[in-house]
Amino acid sequence: PGDFTLRGRASARVVIVGAGIAGLTVAYELGKAGYDCTLLEAGERAGGRNLTLRGGDRVSETSGPAQEVRFGEGVYFNAGPGRIAPWMLTMDYCRELGIPVETFVNNNAHAYVHTKGRTVRARAARADMYGYIAELLAKATNVGALNRTLTKDDKERLLEFLRRFGDLGPAYEYDGSSRRGFVKYPAVTRGIPLDPPGALHQILAAATGRAITNDFGYDQATPMFQPVGGMDAIVRALTAAVGPGRIRTGVQVTGITTRQNDVEVTWSGGAHTADYCVVTLPPHVLATVPHNLGAAVQAALKTPVPVAAGKIGLEYGRRWWEIDDRIYGGITETDLDITHIWYPSHDYHARRGLIVGYYASEGQAELYGALTPEDRLRRALTQGKKIHGEKYRSELLSSVSIAWERRPHIRGGWARWPAFDSSFTLLQRPSGRVYFAGDWLTYLIAWQAGAMESARNAVTQLHQRVLQSP
Ligand code: PHE
Repeated sequence: PGDFTLRGRASARVVIVGAGIAGLTVAYELGKAGYDCTLLEAGERAGGRNLTLRGGDRVSETSGPAQEVRFGEGVYFNAGPGRIAPWMLTMDYCRELGIPVETFVNNNAHAYVHTKGRTVRARAARADMYGYIAELLAKATNVGALNRTLTKDDKERLLEFLRRFGDLGPAYEYDGSSRRGFVKYPAVTRGIPLDPPGALHQILAAATGRAITNDFGYDQATPMFQPVGGMDAIVRALTAAVGPGRIRTGVQVTGITTRQNDVEVTWSGGAHTADYCVVTLPPHVLATVPHNLGAAVQAALKTPVPVAAGKIGLEYGRRWWEIDDRIYGGITETDLDITHIWYPSHDYHARRGLIVGYYASEGQAELYGALTPEDRLRRALTQGKKIHGEKYRSELLSSVSIAWERRPHIRGGWARWPAFDSSFTLLQRPSGRVYFAGDWLTYLIAWQAGAMESARNAVTQLHQRVLQSP
């Protein structure tokens, strides 16, 4: 990862279809190497799924009414990507392009876990699960159930670890822990503890497993990051670096023809000829565009399955999650159809703020996406109220929702390969003079870093070819 330069310079003409993060990255890197790039974008703006909504914006979907965004000054909603892991290429581009980043709080012990109709602080859910797991394993160790696996030294070391892991008592029992938090936190007095934890079977029945393990993932672990002021800072910086004049918006491509010596891209009312083409459309969208790239390419394009994904932004005039709940960033995980509630990791203590009232994918996203914006809101408020009470409805100022599977020209949150098979590798290589790029061509699907990695892969192959061609 990190700094990337195509070695040597070339001046071929490249037409790039789609000005999302993959297309912009292709144009940016080829531009640095001397290429003459033109981007064709079907939508009204560059960025693709990198979309930050602010007051005055308007969001439309393939059917149903458009939504006017009414957020107040300074309030924004990252309707697409929202978090970046530190090892991702996205961070390198933020550094190179001078985009300030700040911490995105992906795990907050003081946020809630809401499962089976009950709401507890994440720290309590975690302490109880770890506590009982540690107790069980200690018991098994102590009754000799693991004697065939563990030496005497192993057992001692394991028990020593389990005591810490679960905050166990002297007999290796889990009996609650200050890790669970307090009703009143310690100050000049010792603090008022929570009610004691439920019994083991109650803790298991609460099914908090998914909620308390999300940040174990290599792509979800703390710390994560976000650009200051909105994710679209990445789009703005890439657009400025590429040259806004190179991006033609409102151009919906209707044909891609690779020929012996060039490639032609057509749309209603126009055509563009170049030496090479990089197509960055989602595979399910590209599969609907007539082309002469062959049956194998077409079959491969039809292999990945588009996945629905949606979010709702809820704007409030009072940051009650900070004032009342002491939640500064992070996520409440739920087993409701909203899946999560995201609290903002920026502008703490500001007057207004915006939370993400649902972020769902697959079936749950389809369910919300099929509703009108008002019904999405109504449903999201009904669910969130179960956790946060009446203020969740009464203090709302405005909202906007997005269903990515219903966004024109995009038609999906992301794509899923049934298997990373020969279709996947086929499209990582050019077909004639046409190259493909997008997060869907990497193992980083649904990450901007995937789009960027794929863009680098395509331009590297293209450049090598240009340098070798007479
Ligand atoms: N990148 C998206 C997110 O962080 C979608 C995603 C989730 C992708 C989990 C992979 C794993 O929410």
